[in-house]
Order: sequence, then structure tokens, then C-alpha cells
Amino acid sequence: MKVSAPERLRCEYRVNPLGIDVAQPRLSWQLRDKRRGARQTAYRVRAAGRPGDLEAGDNLLWDSGRVESDQSVHVPYGGPAPASKQRCYWQVRTWDEGGAESPWSDPAWFEMGLLDREDWEAEWIASSLVGGPRTTVPVPYMRKDIALDGAVAAARLYITALGVFEAHINGRRVGEDVLAPGWTYFPKQVRYHVYDVARLLKKGDNTLGAILGDGWYCGHIEKLPRQVHGDRPKLLARLEVELKDGTKQVVLSDGTWKTCFGPLLEADLIMGEAYDARLEMPGWDRPGFDDSGWLPVKTMPDEGMDLVAYRGPAMRCVEEIKPVAKPRKGRHGWIFDLGQNMVGVVRLKIEGAAGKTVTIRHAEMMNPDDSLHTENLRTARATDYYTPAGNGVEEWTPRFTFHGFRYVELQGIREQPRRDAVTGVVIHSDMESTGRFKCSDKLVNQLQHNIRWGQKGNFLDVPTDCPQRDERLGWTGDAQVFIRTACFNMEVAGFFTKWLQDIRDAEGPEGTVPSIVPISAPGLAGSDGGPAWADATTICALTIYEEYGDLRALEEHYDCMVRYVAYQSSTARDYLRCRDGCGYSQGFGDWLALDGGEGWSGRTHKELIGTVFFARSTQLLAQAARALGKARDASRYEKQYEKIRKAFQKRFVTPGGLVAGQTQTCYVLALHFDLLPESLREAALAELVRDIEKRGMKLSSGFVGTSYLPHVLTRFGKTDIAYALLAQEEWPSWLYAVTQGATTIWERWDGWTHDKGFQDKAMNSFNHYAYGAIGEWLYRTVAGLGVDPAKPGYKHLVIRPLPGGKLTHAEAELRTMYGIAKSGWRIKGKKLRMEVVVPPNTTAAVHIPGPVAGKVTESGKPAGDADGVSVVDENTLEVTAGSYVFETRWEDK
Ligand code: BGC
Repeated sequence: MKVSAPERLRCEYRVNPLGIDVAQPRLSWQLRDKRRGARQTAYRVRAAGRPGDLEAGDNLLWDSGRVESDQSVHVPYGGPAPASKQRCYWQVRTWDEGGAESPWSDPAWFEMGLLDREDWEAEWIASSLVGGPRTTVPVPYMRKDIALDGAVAAARLYITALGVFEAHINGRRVGEDVLAPGWTYFPKQVRYHVYDVARLLKKGDNTLGAILGDGWYCGHIEKLPRQVHGDRPKLLARLEVELKDGTKQVVLSDGTWKTCFGPLLEADLIMGEAYDARLEMPGWDRPGFDDSGWLPVKTMPDEGMDLVAYRGPAMRCVEEIKPVAKPRKGRHGWIFDLGQNMVGVVRLKIEGAAGKTVTIRHAEMMNPDDSLHTENLRTARATDYYTPAGNGVEEWTPRFTFHGFRYVELQGIREQPRRDAVTGVVIHSDMESTGRFKCSDKLVNQLQHNIRWGQKGNFLDVPTDCPQRDERLGWTGDAQVFIRTACFNMEVAGFFTKWLQDIRDAEGPEGTVPSIVPISAPGLAGSDGGPAWADATTICALTIYEEYGDLRALEEHYDCMVRYVAYQSSTARDYLRCRDGCGYSQGFGDWLALDGGEGWSGRTHKELIGTVFFARSTQLLAQAARALGKARDASRYEKQYEKIRKAFQKRFVTPGGLVAGQTQTCYVLALHFDLLPESLREAALAELVRDIEKRGMKLSSGFVGTSYLPHVLTRFGKTDIAYALLAQEEWPSWLYAVTQGATTIWERWDGWTHDKGFQDKAMNSFNHYAYGAIGEWLYRTVAGLGVDPAKPGYKHLVIRPLPGGKLTHAEAELRTMYGIAKSGWRIKGKKLRMEVVVPPNTTAAVHIPGPVAGKVTESGKPAGDADGVSVVDENTLEVTAGSYVFETRWEDK
């Protein structure tokens, strides 16, 4: 049989990345082979500097030769270390399990960015006018006319800003990225973008332009005054043009550029944007524009931070949403309902009188009197202003802000606007959608929808808590709680690789990790985020390793984890942490739990949580050490984990199996992290179940306990209780918000209730992904699709669906690094039918949900006789790649 060429070639998770700075990029590909048992036994990669050479196999930069290996993901490029700006074309061919050779794949490429600071040569430039901590100045536009002496063969724009930029060439926007270059801890690093701009340039006169917003560098972050990192936005750019005659022309940002203020009067991420169309400067980004009134830019000193290539997916306008109804007259203006709590901006399309400003306000919820509910936005103004030029129908989309909203209110318009006056433009890091979950319960499907939208709305370059109020911060606790679910819904490897770097940049000299990353205020530098927040450092690194098989992410992060665990160890007393009066952070507790206690931290002792996460991080570090082949470290941390476990038992566990505090979260943590003696697990589990039942089948846990709760119930044989919690429609429950029309996950179980109305307005977000962590359980347990941590990156899958509750059907799909995996089941009468797809070059353990009442068949044959299936025991099969349909008799327990 003919073997197809490998496909979906990726370099560092990306398709043909332009501008990377990874010294030895990793290459991945997928086999295009649906046959049972399809796998790779060998590969050969070759690379060349020119496509022609690659095809001819001449002048190769690298030829791996035939490598006997089944590795098809993260294969390190083996050619000489690529130089700055070098482009490598590469392709791969594989040999299958029968030794048949595939054709060469289509070529792919990667291109290096500027690897040394000196390569830039450019200077930082800015406007002379500066705002203050509470006052802003209009947004600077910058321009530079250039003449090119011949036709253009190739051109690259290397560009970044302290602040956010939009680049223009000859009247056209460069690229599609928004809010570039995103958010990093600027004293340490800023990322740059690279664009192929050959097609925007021409022989003769050209103009390079840029608009510079405040962004995270000098605009409002949180509720702090402006200018946390610097006083004004700055631009750094290098345009490199290769002419057809082989000569090179380079244009740098320097003192010869000019700047002016234009129609963008204000732009702030939290506050919003103001645009006066009467002040537009037609042609400012084109040759021939009269810039005699513009001022020279000011060159600024280099602040010395690292310039690093963009790693994760950039932020983009990913989709658009139309209002679900005609606008209606609300209490203060025209109300548009987009039907979805979203993050981004509104594109306005109106016909207005010159100078008559339209105010655009945003909110997630409406008040009973038909006014926008903006109290929960706190100091975030979340308001944009557009002043028409009076030129008929005008369209405007803000550039340098974003809001979290479902409802839009337009003020300043007398007549009923058209429905298309408002379009929701959704912005987030442009992650590939990889997962899908669906089942027979509509409410649960809506829950999954809400989880996905929580992810979209809160993955804007950093994982944030919420996108609407004056916070929008990279809370570490929230991110670690949600990361597993995030990995199912979308490809987040690049996103989190970048954020792990942010963690390293935020790490204190003693090994502490703050509660917020990137650090939003200088005061947070070197601070300790406390249990379950700071532990994001170990949890996220290990999760990315397990989900994507990314050993390098682990390697790069290892020392940071070591230092963090050393910090925990040095502040522990007798292997216990966070005692009252300990003198360091006790953290946030089981944030927002509903089990009593003071404030919002719940009743679970902070000391217990502190010790649990000390154990957990130590255990994860041991796993990391094992994976990296550091056996000595591994056994040291394994021993330390045992000691913490003993100390935990001595201090918190009674001989009868009660865990101090007796909250649901106490039991969940002790069970999930194996901190109890085996003999006491039953008793502890019984306490957990008793508490849930006593509350009328309701949970009471907060951010920390909730994410593990359903897993603990499943692991210890109480999946029925987990299903009962899932089906619960009264608060606190996942479905309560769904029954209230939620389209995202709420921060609080009781964000709004019939009897109390809105929760505390000081902290009540309706788009907070933490409780969306149930998503992992939906994929893994309800549909039954998961990774085997022993063979990370889905090299070996664990298919273990556990039908339950009233569900009659569930299915999940995940695009793994190897290809699409599926697990789905359906109960029809007395039959259970399972459909499983195992990607090529992987294998899977398939657990038939039991007790198996009859023989298991595969496509009609006894499973044991089916091609690709080996029977391990009555319930367990081991299968090769391919598609399978299993059936068994099903009896409701
Ligand atoms: C954030 C959280 C965060 C918490 C920590 C809140 O203001 O919104 O999600 O984890 O503070 O206490």
C-alpha cells in the first residue's frame, strides 16, 4: 500500500514561524494514515536554505539520514545553529510499521529573528509630550518617508514597542496582530514581532508609520495610577529590504522620524478609547504627506531589557458577533444585546453629525431598571467615545483597548440606531481550537460553551482572572486551576511556554513566585503568592509537559521549580507550612468557598493548604527530575514528599480518618494528593460524601478544592456523586449560572441570585474561568479522553469513559500532536456503544465502563479477535492506532 507523506508540519508548535529565537527549534509532523496499527518506525528530515536545494537534495544544511525512531513530535533541528535572520526550509519522510517509505512531505520553513541586541541597531523613539499618573495625552502617530532604489525582492519589519503598536506601510496595516507586543514584565523583557512586508513596499517613495498606545507599559494596570513601568510609549523598529539587484537597504527607528498627535485622543486598556474623526490625517502613512507640522521624535535610552521573539500565538480579532435583537431604549441610551459575554471591542457603524460625540459603554449584565450594571467594573471606565466627522456612514473600531461585556449602550444618538450599528469584535490570543465536548444534556453543553468562552475572554497574552473590571491580572492560582481544561479546548502550549517565562521573570531571589504574573506593580517583585497560587510554577510546567510531551519546557523551568521548593522547604517548620504567625504569606485559602470562615478564604485551614501544596510541588518536582533523568534529585524530592506526608498525617489526620477542619476541600486535597494512609482513605471519603449529602447534594468548595472534587469522587468510586453535583441546578453548582442564562463562567457560585440579586459589587465578575476547571472532568471522565502521564503528549491515550447521571451520550475530540483522538459513547436500550479514534503513531488503553455485562465486541466481532485490539482483562483493552466501535451490554446500576 502507498504511504502518504507526513503532514501538518510544525516548528515550535507553529506553522512556518517567522522570527523565532529558539537556538535549536523542534520539528513536529503528523502521519496521514487511518489504518489500524499505523505507526512510524523511522524518519528522515532534511533542511536547506533554499526551496530548490531542498527539493533537489543539494546544499543541504542538515540531513538527519534515516533515524530508526517513532518520534514524530519535538524532533530537535540538527543542522548548524541557525544564524540571525536565517531561513531554513525542511521536509520529512517516514517509514511505517511495515517498513514502507513515504514520499517527502511538502516543505515547511522557519526563520530566525534577530538573535543579538546589536542586530537591531535601531533606537527607541517616542513623543516628547507625556501624561502623568492620572492624566493622559493623545496617542502619538509616527512616520518616516523612505526611498527604495529598486524593485523589492524581500523585506522584513522587526518591530516592537514599550506599550502597544500598530504598524503601517504605504497606507496599509502591517499584519493582523492587535495589542502587540502584549504583556511581559518589561524591566526584564519585551517581545518583538517580525513581518514579511515585501508586498507592501515598492520601488521609489514609501512611508513607514506606527501608532503607539500605552498598553501594559504605561497605561492603567489594575486600579493603579498610570505609568507603572515608564512614562510614555516607545517604538523600536528595523526594516530590512533586499532589492532585486541584490542590494540591501535598512531603515531604523531613530531621530529622523517625525511624530504628531491625531484623532486618537486617549487609549487605555482599562479605561477605553476616545477618537475624534474630525482630526484624522488622511494619508499620514503614505508618501507625499505634508508632515512639515510634525515634530521630530525624541530618542530614548535603551532600558536594557531583553528583546525576545514572540513565542505564543499573537492576539487577534478572532471572530465577530452581531446583536441578537434590535437595539432598545434603555434607561440611559440605546441597548444592544450581543447574546454572549465576550471580550474585545465594538465596531461602530453610524451616521452622525460632525462633532456630536457618541458614548459607547459596556457591561456584562443589566440592572433591573434597564441601566447597565457597571458597579462590578470598579474603577474601569470601560467606555469609548467616538466623535464623527460628519461624512455619512462612518465606521470605527478601537485599537488599543478591550472590554469584557455582553451589553453595549450607545449614548448621544437620538434616533433608533440600526442593528448593525454595533458589532462585537472578539479579541484573544489566537490559539488553535483543538477540543470539543458534547453530551446528551443541553445544560452541560451550555456549561462547556461557557468554559470555552471563559478561556477566550481570559487568554489575552497572559492567563487572567477576569477581563472586565480594573483587575485583568495573571493570577497564578486561577491559571493553575484551569490549565488542564485549557489544554483540552485549545492549543495552549505556546501560550503557557511564554507565561512560564513570565513566571521566571517574576521569581524573587529566594525562589518565591508572586500571586500575579507578570508582576503588575513593583511592590510584587520578590513576593510570595502563597499556596496554590505560587505553585502554578510547578503545576503549569508539569501540565504542559504531560499534555504536549514538552520536555524542553520542563528543562527550561526546572531550576525555577527547584528554587521554589527550596523556598518552601526553608520556610517550613517540621515539614509543615503556613502556620499562623509564620511571617510569610499564608495565601488566599480556598478562595470563595462557601463553607464559612472569615472573609473570602473559606474555612479550610491555610496551614493545611500550605502543607498540601508543599507536598504537591515537591512531588511534581520529583516527577520533573525523573523525566529529565535527574535520578538523584528525584529520589531526594520523593523522600521529602514522604516526610511532608507523614507530617501532614501527624498534624491534620485523626486515627479515625477525620481531616482537621472537616471541609470538603480538606478531604479532597488529602485524597487527591495521596496524603492519607491507605487505611484511612475509605473513612475520609465517607466524610466527604457525608458533607455533600448533608448539604443536599451540593458542593461548598472554593477555587482550590473545586477543581479536584469530581476527580476525587471518580477515583474513589463515587462517580455517581460527581454526576449528582454536575446535575445540581441550585447554587452552589456549575449549572446554576447556566440556568440563569450565563454565557461564561462566573467568579462566584452566587454572582446573582433571585433572592439577593447581585453579589458584593466589589468583586463579582461574570467571566472568571476558575470554576470552569470542571471541563477537564467532562473530557476525561464523562467522555473518557485523557493522556497517560507515563507517555506524555498523548503518545499513549487513556480512554476511560464513565457514563452516569441521566446522560445517554457523550463524546469528546482532541487534536493531539499526533492527530485527532476521539472518545464517545451512547446508551441505546441495553447496549453501550463506544466510538474511539486513536491517532496514528500512538496507542491507547481502552477501559470499557463496567461492570461489563456481556461480551465486548469491536465492529461486530469479539473484541479479542479484532485487528489492533489486545485484551488485557475483562474491562481493559490495549489498542493500536485507528478507529474502533466497541459494543457491550449495558445495565443501569
Ligand atoms: C481575583 C482572583 C484571584 C484572587 C486572589 C481576586 O481579586 O479575581 O481570581 O485569584 O483575587 O485572592
